[in-house]
Amino acid sequence: MSESKSSDSPSLPNASNSYIISKRKNSWPFTLLITALVPVVAATILYQLDTFDPAPLPPGELSRHVIEAPVRNSRMLEGSELVGVGHLAGPEDIAYDPSAGVFYTGCADGWINRVTVNDSVVHKWINTGGRPLGIAVGRNNELIVADAAKGLLNVTAEGVVELLTDEAEGQKFRMTDGVDVAENGMIYFTDASYKYSLSEFIWEFLEGKPHGRLMSYDPATRRTKVLVRNLYFANGVAVSPDQNYVIFCETPVRRCRKYIIQGKEKGKVDKFIEYLPGMPDNIRYDGEGNYWIAFPTAHTFSWDLAFRYPIIRKGIAIMERYVGRPNMEKNGGVLAVDLVGKPTAYYYDPGLLLLTTGIKIGDHLYCGSLFSPYIIRLNLKQYPAT
Ligand SMILES: *[C@@H]1O[C@H](CO)[C@@H](O)[C@H](O)[C@H]1NC(C)=O
Ligand SMILES: *[C@@H]1O[C@H](CO)[C@@H](O)[C@H](O)[C@H]1NC(C)=O
Repeated sequence: MSESKSSDSPSLPNASNSYIISKRKNSWPFTLLITALVPVVAATILYQLDTFDPAPLPPGELSRHVIEAPVRNSRMLEGSELVGVGHLAGPEDIAYDPSAGVFYTGCADGWINRVTVNDSVVHKWINTGGRPLGIAVGRNNELIVADAAKGLLNVTAEGVVELLTDEAEGQKFRMTDGVDVAENGMIYFTDASYKYSLSEFIWEFLEGKPHGRLMSYDPATRRTKVLVRNLYFANGVAVSPDQNYVIFCETPVRRCRKYIIQGKEKGKVDKFIEYLPGMPDNIRYDGEGNYWIAFPTAHTFSWDLAFRYPIIRKGIAIMERYVGRPNMEKNGGVLAVDLVGKPTAYYYDPGLLLLTTGIKIGDHLYCGSLFSPYIIRLNLKQYPAT
C-alpha cells in the first residue's frame, strides 16, 4: 500500500493534479465553515445549557488601584522554615494561646491540632468531624471554631465539641469562615456564603453575588444576630484591641471594613482599609499594634478581568466544569496594617499560593494555608521587609 502510494503521487498526470487542486479549492470554504462552526456551536450549546448566571459586580467595587506598603519582602519563602510537615493538612487559621505556649490550627481532615511554640511539636487534639477554618481562644479556656461544614463550635478545655449556632434569620450557614471573641465574651463571626459550601467556594467567586454575612453570637442569651448582610465572600474577623469595633474582610472586593460595637456610632459600618494588594482571607491582631491580613493571591490581571466581566466568569465556570480552571492566582502573602488601617509592611512570594492566615508570635510570622501540609514561619528580625 505505502509503496504504491509513494510511486503514484509523483507520476500523477497534470490533469488529475489540477483536479485535486480544484477539488481542494471547492472544499476549502466548507472545511473552513465546519472547523469554525463546530467549536462555536459546541460552545454556544454549552453556554446555553449552563444555567450558571454570574452577576456584574457594582462598578464602585472594581478599582485597579492598589495601596503600597512602605516596606516589603517580596521573597518571603527565602529563609522561611516549615512547621509540622506531614502532620498538618491545610492549616487554615491559627489561634495563639500565650498562657499555654501553644497555638491551635484547624485542618482539612477535621483535626484541631495543638502546636507547641517552643519546639513546634504537633499534637492531634480533637476532631470536629467537619472542616475547621477560623479559630479563636475563648474567655473560658475554650476554643471557638468557625467550622465550614458544621457552623460555630465551642470546643471546651476538656475537648468536648458543642454546636453554638448554624443558622440565622432562617438561613443556614454553608461556609462558616472567620471568628474572633471580644473581651466581654461576645463572639463575632462570618458565613462566607449561604449558597455554596467550602468545596464549591470557587462558584461563590465566579457568581459574584453577595451571599456573605457578619454575625454575632452572645453566649449569655445564645442568640445569633446578623450584623451586616449582602457581603462578598465574608471572611476573616478581628476585634480591635480597644474593643470598639470588629474588622471583617471581603475577599473578592479587596477590602476590610469595621463594624462599630461600642459608643455613639454603634451598629455603623465604616471604612478600615481598601484597595488591598491581594484578596484578604483571615485577619489577626498581634497585640503589638499590627493586624496581619493574609492574601491567598495578590490582585492579578486575570481575576481583575474576571470580576469586571461576568461573561469571562461564565467562561471560566464552563472550563471549571468540563476541563479545569486556568491558574489565576500568584504572589500569596501577608500585609501588616496598623491600628488605623495604614499598611506598615508587606511580605509575599511568587511561590506562595492560597495563604489564608498570618500571625506574629514572638519574632516569627506564622502562616497557614488552605491546602499546604505545613505552616511556614519566617523570622522577621532576620528577614525583615525593607
Ligand atoms: C515546650 O513547651 C511545652 C508546653 O509549654 C512543655 O511541656 C515542653 O517541655 C517544652 N519543650 C521544650 C523543649 O522546652
Ligand atoms: C463552652 O463550653 C464551656 C464548658 O461547658 C463553657 O464553660 C463555656 O462558657 C462555653 N463557651 C461558650 C462561648 O458558650
